Amino acid sequence: MLVSAKEMLEKAKAGHYAVGQFNINNLEWTKSILQTAQEMNSPVILGVSEGAGKYMTGFKTVAAMVKAMIEEMNITVPVALHLDHGTYEGCYKCIEAGFSSIMFDGSHYPIDENVAKTKELVAVCKEKGLSLEAEVGSIGGEEDGVVGMGECADPQECKMIADLGIDMLAAGIGNIHGKYPANWQGLSFETLDAIQQLTGAMPLVLHGGTGIPADMIKKAIDLGVSKINVNTECQLAFAEATREYIEAGKDQQGKGYDPRKLLAPGAEAIKATVKEKIELFGSANKA
Ligand code: 13P
Repeated sequence: MLVSAKEMLEKAKAGHYAVGQFNINNLEWTKSILQTAQEMNSPVILGVSEGAGKYMTGFKTVAAMVKAMIEEMNITVPVALHLDHGTYEGCYKCIEAGFSSIMFDGSHYPIDENVAKTKELVAVCKEKGLSLEAEVGSIGGEEDGVVGMGECADPQECKMIADLGIDMLAAGIGNIHGKYPANWQGLSFETLDAIQQLTGAMPLVLHGGTGIPADMIKKAIDLGVSKINVNTECQLAFAEATREYIEAGKDQQGKGYDPRKLLAPGAEAIKATVKEKIELFGSANKA
C-alpha cells in the first residue's frame, strides 16, 4: 500500500519506535526492502536521492516500478516513496511523478529562504496528500557529491520550521552520511533533547543511520526520533556479498554469471541488513 509517511510516523512517535527509511538504487534493492518489510509486518519508507532517481532514468520510472511492485508482490504493509534531500525543483518533479512523500532540504539556504520555500511546499503537499520532511542544520559527510561539515541545528530554527506544518523534521545533531570517522564525537543528545522539547509531537528524523551504535539509536528514539535513514550500510552489505561470490569463482561455475544468480547474495545481504534495522528500530509488527 503506497501511503504518505504522515500517519506511520505519528504512530511511531506516539509508540516510541522508529520507521526505517532505506534508500533504493535499483530493482533488487527495492524488491529486497519490500520483501523484508512485508515479512516483518513493518511500515517502511523507500528513500530516493536525486542521484539515484537519475540513475534509474528518472522519478517517473521509480514511481511506476514501486507502485507495480507493491501490487505484484502483494505488499500490504504501509510503504512511503520518499524523495531524499530534494532540491526545490526535484520536489516538484517527484510530486508530479507520483511520490507519496518528499524531503525539501533547504538547510543550505539562509533560514528565511528555507522558511519561505518550505512554507510553499507545505501548501502544495497538503493539497496533494503527500508528507513533507524539512531540514535544519546540515548533515555531515558526502552524499551525491554534496559535502556537509555536520553541524548541530539551532533548536529555535527547528521550531520555526516545524511550526510551518511539515510532517517530519531532520535536524543535524552531529550525524554524518556514510561511515563515521574514528574520531567521531557521537550524537549530540543535548541538542536533540532541546529540539524535541520545542517541537513537541513532531516526528524527528535521524539521517546517517549507518554505523551509529545500537545504544545511541535507542537513546535517539527515546528522545523523539521516529524515522531513521539508512543507505550506506545496505550498499556495504551488498558489495561484500557480491565480492565473496566473485572471489569464490561462483560466476564461472555453471550459469553463475546469470545476473539473477550473481546478484542474489547481495540481495540477501540487503534483506539481512534491513531485518536487523527493523528489529533495532522497533517497527516490526507495527504495520
Ligand atoms: P547513511 O548512508 O549514512 O546510512 O545515511 C543515509 C541517509 O541519511 C540518507 O538520507
